Parts: sequence; structure tokens; C-alpha cells
Amino acid sequence: MTNTNRYLAAVTGASDGLGKEFARQLAGQGYDLLLIARRKNLLDELKADLEKQYGITAESVVCDLSNAEELKKLEDRIEHEERLEVFVNNAGFGITDTFPNVDPDKEESMIRLHCIALMRLSRAALVPMCKRKKGYLVNLASISSFLRGPNTVEYSATKTYVLAFSQSLQCDVRHCGVRVQALCPGLTHTGFHSAEGMKDFDKAATPNFLWLTAEYVVRTSLRSIKRSRKVVCVPSLRYKLLLLLLCNPIGDKIMEMVYRSRLK
Ligand SMILES: NC(=O)c1ccc[n+]([C@@H]2O[C@H](COP(=O)([O-])OP(=O)(O)OC[C@H]3O[C@@H](n4cnc5c(N)ncnc54)[C@H](OP(=O)(O)O)[C@@H]3O)[C@@H](O)[C@H]2O)c1
Repeated sequence: MTNTNRYLAAVTGASDGLGKEFARQLAGQGYDLLLIARRKNLLDELKADLEKQYGITAESVVCDLSNAEELKKLEDRIEHEERLEVFVNNAGFGITDTFPNVDPDKEESMIRLHCIALMRLSRAALVPMCKRKKGYLVNLASISSFLRGPNTVEYSATKTYVLAFSQSLQCDVRHCGVRVQALCPGLTHTGFHSAEGMKDFDKAATPNFLWLTAEYVVRTSLRSIKRSRKVVCVPSLRYKLLLLLLCNPIGDKIMEMVYRSRLK
């Protein structure tokens, strides 16, 4: 357990990708860190690196967030972290299977991670934040929160939950001085698309201009949550325009055509 006067930021899924980048940028802002994920060796490497580079204190917290008992232990701890100022619900994974030929256990574990862990940890984080009347809660949704289509049934459903949950939550906690963000990135270079569940994803088939860097996504998120009152954060103009084009009845038809052609 850390014991300094600095404020504390906790990041789930800190061992890789966007979570690792959140940890790096928050360390750069002077926060002590709780680095949460399953791969202890990667967390320990990051902890050593950030402590050395930024002079902060970090702690590796090994936790499988889809496991109810491990989640409960973490929740109990987070509730009592009086210095907690930032909580990033970032851990997540993708699946490219087509319903009904899916592994229902994998689908359930996605719901546990993206929805149940996120809901329980948000509540726990809000306890110290509301007590101090200050806090920032970032929930990783996705551009998929707005889009519908095949091969992404559970993913887009769970990310839609994250979006709706965060938007309504902001209404409940506004009076406590806590800001909530649903971060909705498009395609971002991380380990996400090369993970086990995404082996059918063809990275080369997606145009280069659609890819964002983790550094840019995280910088946009942290700047937006500290400076603006917007709950929904969609990094980059190209994705904002894409949503304008696609989130209407004509867009629905375009998406349907694209998906149908992909299924042939
Ligand atoms: N990359 C994109 O294009 C993109 C776009 C939109 C939204 N997102 C969202 O951004 C978030 C981060 O994804 P990423 O792109 O950074 O992917 P990533 O590089 O694959 O990182 C995923 C992180 O989640 C952790 N994680 C996965 N399952 C976990 C579990 N059961 N318990 C604890 N930690 C777990 C992993 O750590 P361990 O394996 O060590 O546990 C890892 O640190 C996800 O919620 C994803 O849906 C990503």
C-alpha cells in the first residue's frame, strides 16, 4: 500500500495498450498509481519504469476482473482508497465469432468484464470521490457503442451498456463534483486486435487513416474530462464525422449493405 501525499489514479487493464498509456500519462501528471490486470510481470515492469521516470509510487494489483471473488476484494479496497481521484475502467477484449457459433462462456465473461466489473468498480470508486467532492471516472466504451452489425454482437451490446451507464451516472453524481466520461475510440493501435479472440480480424483490410494511436486517444480523453463537461468523448474529427454519417436511417442502410457484402 502506498503512503504519500499525492493523489491516486487506478487503471484497469494497465498491462497493455490504452491502459498502459493511461498509466503513463497519469504518472506524468504526478499521480500515484494502482496498476490492475492479470499479467503480473507486465505490471511489475511498468511499475518499475514509471516510478523511475516520474518519481511516483505505483503498485501492481493482480486481479482477474471477470472473477467475482477477485473483483469483490478489489472493490472493497477501492472503496477505502481515500486519495483516489481518477479511476479508469479500461480492461476489455474483443471477439470476432458469429452468433450462434460462439463460446457462451467467453461471451459471458465479456459481460462480466465490460459491464459487471465496470459497474461495481465505478460504484466503489465513487465512494471516496463523493466524500472528497472531486473525482474523474473514465469508462472505456467504443465507437462500437453506436454501431450494430454481425460478428460483434456481444462487444457492441456491452459497449452500448458502458455508454448508457456513464451518461446516466453523470446525472447522479453531478452534485458530488465528480466527472464521468464514456470514452469512445475508433480503431486504435494496441494489442487488442492481435489477441486470441480477434484472430479473424483482418487489420490489413482496414484503411490506414482510420487508425489512431493510444497516445492520442488517452491525451484527448484526459484533456476532455478535466476541461469540459462532455460525457461522451469521441477522439478525432474523422470518427465524429463518421458517426454523423452513420448514425441516422440512411447510415443504417449503408452499414447494412457493408455488412451484407462482408458476409458473402
Ligand atoms: N484498440 C481499439 O481499437 C479499441 C477501440 C475502442 C475501444 N477499445 C477498448 O479499450 C479498452 C482497452 O483495450 P486495448 O485496445 O488497450 O486492448 P489490449 O491492448 O488488448 O489491452 C487490454 C487490457 O485489458 C486487460 N484485461 C483483459 N481481460 C482482463 C480481465 N479479465 N481482468 C483484468 N484485466 C483484463 C489486459 O490485461 P491482462 O491480459 O494482463 O489481464 C490488458 O491490459 C478495452 O475496453 C477495449 O474494448 C479499444
